[in-house]
Amino acid sequence: MRKPKLVISSGAGISAESGISTFRDAGGLWENYPVMEVCSADGYRRNPKLVHEFYNARRKDMVGKEPNDAHKILAELEKDFDVYVITQNVDNLHERAGSTQILHLHGELMKIRSVVDPNYVEALDMEHLETTPDTKGENGHPMRPHIVFFQEPVPNMELAAEWVYEADIFVVIGTSLNVYPAAGLINFVREGIPIYYIDPKPAENVILPPQITVIKATATEGMRKLKEILLKNYK
Ligand code: APR
Repeated sequence: MRKPKLVISSGAGISAESGISTFRDAGGLWENYPVMEVCSADGYRRNPKLVHEFYNARRKDMVGKEPNDAHKILAELEKDFDVYVITQNVDNLHERAGSTQILHLHGELMKIRSVVDPNYVEALDMEHLETTPDTKGENGHPMRPHIVFFQEPVPNMELAAEWVYEADIFVVIGTSLNVYPAAGLINFVREGIPIYYIDPKPAENVILPPQITVIKATATEGMRKLKEILLKNYK
């Protein structure tokens, strides 16, 4: 018998307890920078050196962080569920916790891509955490952070919507549901499919579907509660 398909949409809140700051709790600043200066196509065109330096700092910050229990419980649920993680996060904490089916909507800190060919992507490693606008790929192309900036398309959105449409259970965790198209994923859930929303301050400025169950808790507390619910009701 096939395992129930558990599809997760995670945001910055799931990494908060690992010590990685969220976006909107800091009044629109990302580590003291206006988000549009370091995470938009215009910002990158205006000052590529600043953008490279910003993501160099984010990478160095991230390598010192560990997955928390929320990431780990999600990975453990793969024993009983077919778990698909769609994340807006650019950190690699889901991977390091052991999740095996992960789709990054907004890119990945530990990757860089060709400025010329967006499909040419290279992985960075612990010895190479820094890039500059002069960094070249093995193919000689100038490289940039593999991040989806504001004002850029979200290439993985179509596949993410397919994953959500096929879900038997959908979980939203640690996102303010502020940024589209990611926030629109919830609209691809089929009629009658249960939705759980874990957040200590659930978004108030959005209309949530009637069948949603809000778990007002941090990611780690919420995932402990959700694990009990899932194993009791859906296994
Ligand atoms: N556990 C769970 N959720 C938490 C925790 C926690 N410990 N702490 C904060 N949160 C919640 C906040 O209440 C908020 O709803 O996490 C959410 C974080 O929201 P944002 O900071 O807006 O992050 P996110 O929704 O991921 O932002 C989406 O915006 O800036 C862009 O590309 C960037 O991917 C990012 C996107």
